[in-house]
Amino acid sequence: MQFHPSKDILGTKSELLKGKRIVLCITGSVAAVQCPEIARALMRHGAEVFAVMSPAAQKIIHPHLMEWATGNAVITELTGKIEHIALVGAREKKADLVLVAPATANTISKIACGIDDTAVTSVASTAFGSKTPLIIVPAMHESMYVHPILIENIKRLKALGVEFVGPRIEEGKAKIAETREIVDVAIRKLTVKRDFSGLKVLVTAGPTVEHIDPVRVISNKSSGKMGVAIVEEALSRGAEVTLVYGLGTASPPCGVKVLRVETTEEMYEAVVSELKARKYDLVVAAAAAADWMPVKAFSRKVSTHRIRSFSLKLKPTLKIVDAVKKVNPKTFLVAFRAEYNLPEKELIESAYDRLKRAEADLIVVNDVGKEGVGFGTDTNEVFMVDTDKKVVHVPLAPKREIAKKILDVAIGKMKPNSLIVSE
Ligand SMILES: Cc1cc2nc3c(=O)[nH]c(=O)nc-3n(C[C@H](O)[C@H](O)[C@H](O)COP(=O)(O)O)c2cc1C
Repeated sequence: MQFHPSKDILGTKSELLKGKRIVLCITGSVAAVQCPEIARALMRHGAEVFAVMSPAAQKIIHPHLMEWATGNAVITELTGKIEHIALVGAREKKADLVLVAPATANTISKIACGIDDTAVTSVASTAFGSKTPLIIVPAMHESMYVHPILIENIKRLKALGVEFVGPRIEEGKAKIAETREIVDVAIRKLTVKRDFSGLKVLVTAGPTVEHIDPVRVISNKSSGKMGVAIVEEALSRGAEVTLVYGLGTASPPCGVKVLRVETTEEMYEAVVSELKARKYDLVVAAAAAADWMPVKAFSRKVSTHRIRSFSLKLKPTLKIVDAVKKVNPKTFLVAFRAEYNLPEKELIESAYDRLKRAEADLIVVNDVGKEGVGFGTDTNEVFMVDTDKKVVHVPLAPKREIAKKILDVAIGKMKPNSLIVSE
């Protein structure tokens, strides 16, 4: 691998794309300004990125910017080195994915017609021949996007197995998809494990809130990042996923059905009605539901001007995790528990006790008193405890890696004899 200081970020978020080579083809749309961000987001998941630019793209951003972003030389034209074959020609070290982002109307139609007159279209043509997956991310004015010939060409490409991401129709434009969505689709395309294919998964995530008065709430510092990472991981492994989401700040990926809730009671109702409506194979209760609620909430805002102090009497909220097996005893239940500054032995004892009470199949416990663990952080350290009190420790790692380990353990217990299916 070529050394370049920009490659310091390789794999800092996860190793999901470790060893993968992605060719990022850039065409002449203003959305090319998003390309450094796209390249670096892919690199943070471990991918090596190679940029290829059409002449029109080079009038929008300079190749030096992409060389800086990727840490690799940029291909701006074909030379005697036959760069298109070197990158995606059928050979052992060929790229794993060609991503055309942004894709102009011009380039989409040229690829659909087999025209091959820029470095980008040559790479795309070669990708068809070498069976390299191709993802196209269109960006243009809406008036260009509705052109009937372009629509026909997109249909043609989809029929040939090309995947399209976006566009987002906003302000009269067919805007390039969000970086996050592009990266998620790339990860799904390149993740070979499809061991959740055909399985229905329900995830709860984020904090819930309990009202003191119409404007004030009791809650906790959960961000929803752990639950959202589980959603991403389950989707990438082929599951059909529903997320019952409290007031978390992490944004859920595309492709998940999201049911938004505020209070613990709303989360409870949403989970119970989903479990009654559909046969979920797996429930991951990662939400940090508020455990306490005022016995009586004020119906009007409590003014500090009129009331100098008041006492608040609290009662426990409904326990969502305890309801799951009562509604569907067959679902595999992964419960979560957060503890604060406990010795490891007590942490595991308390988790095992909670697992028994909820009749869960697995419980994930973390000590949110530790640096980098739990609420709001991008990392976590967990212990998984099963019904035989067997413990699996996952040391501090990005939440997406933790999500992967949790689903590995869950699927191992759900389908002990299953083979991992590759795409
Ligand atoms: C500033 C600027 C922005 C452009 N933005 C777009 C765009 O978003 N989408 C598009 O299809 N064409 C856009 N075009 C037109 C394309 O650059 C033009 O069709 C060009 O021939 C595309 O060549 P390429 O597909 O080889 O990159 C834009 C042109 C300019 C000058």
